[in-house]
Amino acid sequence: AQAVPSLWGMPLKYISLVTLAIQNSLLTIIMHYSRVSTAPSHTYSAGTAVLMNEVLKGAISLAIAFTRIETPPSTPPPYTPLDGSRFPQPSLNSRWSPRAVLARSRKLCKDVFSPDCWKLSIPAILYVIQNNLQYVAASNLEAATFQVSYQMKILTTAGFSVLLLRKKLTPSQWFALLFLAIGVGIVQIQAGSAKDAVKAAVAASDAHQMNAMKGFLAVAAACFTSGLAGVYFEMVLKNSQGDLWVRNVQLSLFSLLPALVPILFDHAGPGARGLSGLFDNFGAWAWATVGIQVLGGLVTALVIKYSDNILKGFATSLSIVISFLASVALFDFHMTFTFVLGSGVVLIATWLYNQQPKQAPVGLVPNAMP
Ligand code: C5P
Repeated sequence: AQAVPSLWGMPLKYISLVTLAIQNSLLTIIMHYSRVSTAPSHTYSAGTAVLMNEVLKGAISLAIAFTRIETPPSTPPPYTPLDGSRFPQPSLNSRWSPRAVLARSRKLCKDVFSPDCWKLSIPAILYVIQNNLQYVAASNLEAATFQVSYQMKILTTAGFSVLLLRKKLTPSQWFALLFLAIGVGIVQIQAGSAKDAVKAAVAASDAHQMNAMKGFLAVAAACFTSGLAGVYFEMVLKNSQGDLWVRNVQLSLFSLLPALVPILFDHAGPGARGLSGLFDNFGAWAWATVGIQVLGGLVTALVIKYSDNILKGFATSLSIVISFLASVALFDFHMTFTFVLGSGVVLIATWLYNQQPKQAPVGLVPNAMP
C-alpha cells in the first residue's frame, strides 16, 4: 500500500480535501462575479483564462517535478592515475551544481516525453472543454444555482468510476451518494439568499443578461466531462508508475493546443481580435479567477492521487456549507433550519460513505487500463 505523506503532522489527504472545499467556494463566487459584473463587451476572454490556467499550472508542476528528480549517481572517472592519487571528483553531490542540474533536466525531459505520455491527451482535451464550459455556465447562472447543479458531477463520477475503474460501491455507499444529492438540494433552497452580496453588486451594475437554458446545458456537459476526465486521470495515475507532477506537466502540455482553439475561433466575443486582443479587459478579477483555478487544479491532482474522485465530490459538496458559513460570518446572514438540516445531511452522507471497509487498491484491478 502507498504511504500517505503528511504535512505538519496532518495527512496530506485531509489537508488537500479541506483546501479543495475552500477553493471551490471561492472559485464559484469570484468566477461568477468576474464574468457578470461588467457588460459582455467589456468582459475578459474565457479562452485566455483557460490557457493561462494551463500555462501557470504546467509551470508550477514542472518546477515541483524538477525539485523531486533524484540526482543521478556520479560516474567514476574514466581512468585511475598510475600513482594512485585521486583527482578531485566532479561535484555531483550538490543537487544544484551545473552538471547535476543538466542531468536532472535531461531526466525530467525523458520522463515528460515518455512513450506513455499520450495517455494524458484524453483527460487534457476533456478538461479544456470542461474549463471553457464552466465559464459559459458561470456567466449564465446565479452562483448558487451553478454551484448546486455542478454537484451532479458526483453522480457522473461515481458512474464512470464503476464503469472504467471497476470500482465496487456497497449499497450503503450508493445510498450515501443519493443522500448527498438530497442534502445539497436542501442547502441550496437556502443558498439563494447566501450570495445576496454578490447578487446586489451584480444587479447594481445591471450589465449582464443571463441565459439559464444555455447555463444548464453547459453545466450538464461539464458534469459529464468532469466525471470522465477525473476518472481517466485517476486510472492513469494509479495504473502506471509516473510521478504525479510529471503527469500534471503532461496534462498541461496536451491542454495547450486545445486551449488555443476557442481563442483562435472566437470571432464574436472578447477574443475577436485574435492573439493581439488576448489580454483585453483581463483585470484583477480575471487574474484572481485564474489564480484560484490554478490552485484548484494542483490540489485536485493531489486529491485524486491520495484519495479518489468520489471522495473529491464530497469535499466539494462541503464547499456549499463553507460558502454559507462564510456568508454568515462576513455578511451577517442568519442560519436557518433548512440550512442546518441540509448541511447535516451532507455531513452524514460524507461520514456514511467513509464507513466502508477499505477497498482493494485500484492498481490491482485487472484490465482497468485501456
Ligand atoms: O470540477 P472538477 O473537479 O472536475 O474540476 C477539476 C479541475 O481540476 C479542472 O479545472 C481541471 O483542469 C483541473 N485538474 C488539473 N490537474 C489535474 C486534474 C484536474 O488541473 N491533474
